[in-house]
Amino acid sequence: MTRAQFLGSGVATGEAVIDNHRLARIMDTDDTWIRERTGIEARCYVHPGTSSSDLGILAGKAALADASIDAEEIDYIVCATQTPDHYFPGAGSMIQHGIGARTVASLDIRQQCAGFAYGMQVTDALIRSGVANKVLLVGTDIHTVFMPYSDATWEALYSEDDREVSEQDYKWNSQWRHLLPLFGDAAGAFVFGASEREDVGIQGSELHGDGKYAHTLHVPGVGSRSRPMVSQAMIDEASWVPVMDGRATFRFAVTKMPEVTKSLVQATGYTLDDVSLLVMHQANLRINEACQKAMGVSDDRVHNNIQQYGNTTSATLPLCFHEALQDGKAKEGDLVAFTALGAGLHWGSVLLRL
Ligand code: UT7
Repeated sequence: MTRAQFLGSGVATGEAVIDNHRLARIMDTDDTWIRERTGIEARCYVHPGTSSSDLGILAGKAALADASIDAEEIDYIVCATQTPDHYFPGAGSMIQHGIGARTVASLDIRQQCAGFAYGMQVTDALIRSGVANKVLLVGTDIHTVFMPYSDATWEALYSEDDREVSEQDYKWNSQWRHLLPLFGDAAGAFVFGASEREDVGIQGSELHGDGKYAHTLHVPGVGSRSRPMVSQAMIDEASWVPVMDGRATFRFAVTKMPEVTKSLVQATGYTLDDVSLLVMHQANLRINEACQKAMGVSDDRVHNNIQQYGNTTSATLPLCFHEALQDGKAKEGDLVAFTALGAGLHWGSVLLRL
């Protein structure tokens, strides 16, 4: 049976490192609250003008180099993003052109924080069915586009000095203190190739979705629900900024991620003891600690990096896995479990043998 074998990975992150102290300059928050409630210490922001496809191309090229694969060998591109460069076309087509691939198929998938897990299942299906032989899977998100800050706020954030913002800006920005400190900009990419070896590659995947909870985390304005899609009122009300029921999302994450991972491990004939590395979506360190406990996985088999990058949505799984590989936490032959939950709601798990 053909398997989708992992061949290499690459990442790219925003250039500006914004720590919690800098955020405390522009809104009513502090390092202790963010660190204790989320584990986040810093996140990376791109400079204005850098799009999701720009970061995706950088990550894609790095993954190709890591896999020693020429862009011309790629015959399908799958891009997971909730922040494409434009409303349409998707970022996948720009990545296809930007990495110098042939005129191969490219698609965008819109499963937010579960996007990369969904992308791995799509990649697996494309390879197993013989539609594609080598696939570039990219997860990329620029969250700074969702931040409704004034020019003065942006200057304060990027500045090395301790400049402050006006009282009016501070009050405005503080409305989103429960949301905006969580996110950063990043991309991650994997290259997969067809292998006839059954003992390597994606061993299985289990995905779920429940649109009943679509409004638990969503962007209320800017879309086909409204005519026109964008109005002055939406801009004034900042209804293009995501709205999140944080506590409900937290509860879903701590329940669904362990549940789906256990279910997949069992369905594929493994146990959690067979898993050498557990890579979870990076939305909140407390979520991941609870999930790890629920699965009974020891610390040495888990890698988290939300501390340095915050939540990078589609990019968390490849960014975390790439770093774990570099730290020597996984090697050839190891079984890696990925799990994620995000807006949609979508959640799932994928098992990959290196
Ligand atoms: O990847 C997509 C999926 N997203 C997630 O998985 C996120 C899941 N949810 C979470 O991670 C957490 O719910 C949050 C980190 C978003 C919030 O943590 P929480 O412990 O649920 O806090 P809360 O929203 O219940 O707020 C508790 C208090 C409130 O103050 P009062 O009403 O008790 O006076 C908030 O106003 O903490 C306050 N607060 C803050 N204080 C300082 C909220 N955000 C901040 C902040 N700094 N940044």
